[in-house]
Amino acid sequence: EKDGHDWFMRKEIHEQPRAVADSLLGRRTPEGHLHLDEMRLSDQELRDVDKVIIIACGTSFYAGMVAKYAIEHWTRVPVEVELASEFRYRDPILDYSTLVVAISQSGETADTLQAIRHARTQRSKVLAICNTNGSTIPRESDAVIYTHAGPEIGVASTKGFLTQLVACYLLALYLAQVKGTRYGDEIDQVMRQLEAIPEQVQRVLDDAPAIYEMAADHIDTRSVLFLGRHAGYPVALEGALKLKELAYIHAEGFAAGELKHGPIALIEDGLPVLCVVPPAGRDQLRDKMVSGIQEVRARGARTICLVEDGDDAITPYADVIIRLPRVPVLLQPLVAVVPLQLFACELATLMGHDVDQPRNLAKSVTVE
Ligand code: M6R
Repeated sequence: EKDGHDWFMRKEIHEQPRAVADSLLGRRTPEGHLHLDEMRLSDQELRDVDKVIIIACGTSFYAGMVAKYAIEHWTRVPVEVELASEFRYRDPILDYSTLVVAISQSGETADTLQAIRHARTQRSKVLAICNTNGSTIPRESDAVIYTHAGPEIGVASTKGFLTQLVACYLLALYLAQVKGTRYGDEIDQVMRQLEAIPEQVQRVLDDAPAIYEMAADHIDTRSVLFLGRHAGYPVALEGALKLKELAYIHAEGFAAGELKHGPIALIEDGLPVLCVVPPAGRDQLRDKMVSGIQEVRARGARTICLVEDGDDAITPYADVIIRLPRVPVLLQPLVAVVPLQLFACELATLMGHDVDQPRNLAKSVTVE
């Protein structure tokens, strides 16, 4: 049942190329239009949307953070991302022109469910991005985009996350198509870039032994920092969450630009700092990241850098380099998160922890 793997989580990490491909299947009509089968909101209803609020918890929340970048970039509609557990209690501003997007792998998370119930009392339309057919959240939503990860058994979300990202990109492109903010050939180009992702994720997986070797060097580590910018920032947060939940190690993710506003004081000799470097095409972002990496290294950090293939600017400042396939910055989370999943899974295994059932955690959190 685990396909020869020691953990469901490891099996699910390796299923990601298939999961991404399945989540993209059948989304384009022969005429080149994007088609979402359970959209159920009319084009007019979507054209009326003037604000999107994404609500989710944990890893799904980080998918929502990436979605904000994509939706705002492609549609120019303002997006807020909010933790479901906070949303209801702050008297959020909602009306019929607000589209609330609930992201939940299980479809049963109580915080998210209560949040959408509240949104519907305010006449907002709710769209669920969910992996579990017939679960409560999609049943109580106006529309659904199902992800096609297949059952996710490991408590730590992996293929659930990647397929949520795919669904978020599809939603962003669909909104752009309906609202006319992007031309068909642009949408087509992103779809082709997405369709190349399964093969690129497979290449990252083929390099797993190098990540495992790195994990073996970190068995005695008590703390790890993760840095990212732009779409790489949620990836840093997700990498830190994986390490906390599986290896029970203190880990924190930061937006790299925030370092100088406080966190840099944490840097001490030998502290591992994992850096998600933006693709070279985005030079301003990339160069800022490089200087952040220089700064932490000058203060003794051990820098582990996830860098796109062919980008050598970072080499002098990296203690370890992990190569990523070349993808546009908005899609980079799909490939950049995979080494972080492998790292956390392997480190927890070497530390003797139960990777599929980490202490104190449940797969679906059905209490508020
Ligand atoms: O089923 P959901 O996507 O609603 O779950 C949300 C979080 O509980 C979940 O992502 C949690 O953070 C995972 N254990 C992360 O690996």
